[in-house]
Amino acid sequence: MIRILFAPLQGITDAKFRSWHFYNKGGVDEYYTPFVRLEKGRIREKDRRDLLPERNKGIPTVPQVIARDREEFARLCDAVQKLGWNRVDLNMGCPYPMQYNGGRGSGLLPHPDRVQSIFDEMHQRKDVVFSIKMRLGLHDRHECITLLPLINEAPLALVTMHPRLGIQQYKGEVDMETFDMFYQDCDQPICYNGDIKGYEDIVRIQKQYPKLSAIMIGRALVEQARDGRVK
Ligand SMILES: Cc1cc2nc3c(=O)[nH]c(=O)nc-3n(C[C@H](O)[C@H](O)[C@H](O)COP(=O)(O)O)c2cc1C
Repeated sequence: MIRILFAPLQGITDAKFRSWHFYNKGGVDEYYTPFVRLEKGRIREKDRRDLLPERNKGIPTVPQVIARDREEFARLCDAVQKLGWNRVDLNMGCPYPMQYNGGRGSGLLPHPDRVQSIFDEMHQRKDVVFSIKMRLGLHDRHECITLLPLINEAPLALVTMHPRLGIQQYKGEVDMETFDMFYQDCDQPICYNGDIKGYEDIVRIQKQYPKLSAIMIGRALVEQARDGRVK
């Protein structure tokens, strides 16, 4: 059965929310944390607290980090591993200008060299299971196609794709044509994310893309949790 993943939503899906949802609603296989970042060279204290084992007891949590290069990524992995986690998701999709102008989130997508050096760091950490969450590109939808050979060789358990550009933020339609190109040539387990509004969308996407390992849902699950409505 296809897995359903709760998308990371900064300011919403913190440990308190994840715990409430897992124990009261359920139906989700994994919960991705909002991105964990460095502040003055160390893991941000608020993010560290959110990852404390006692705040995530029994919950299938996946810590997500945001980094501009191998060094930042390694520091964040150290901090996350020190808290007992052996699972790290890398944010390669954040569309906030403050992040992408700093070369983080979707700001990584036009830089295959930096992406490769982060993948090299993943290769070094054999005891951690890695995944990435990405967009088609920052400025250009073909950036993901350029990255595909690197992605196919990386030690990844899952590639989540939200088929928009970074500069689009959440505007416009998802670009299913480019998603299709990426999907066809991606050798890694793949997860679709973006604008899933209900059960019918899940069935439609699954039918269209039978080799999907998972579907990640964000805003619709939050809405459903808020008013108890199931579409
Ligand atoms: C308020 C808000 C905060 C978000 N924070 C993150 C984040 O921390 N990490 C991340 O990878 N994506 C983040 N996203 C993107 C979502 O995880 C997801 O990719 C996006 O909402 C599209 O999925 P949906 O249409 O199912 O909501 C955020 C989106 C929103 C609206």
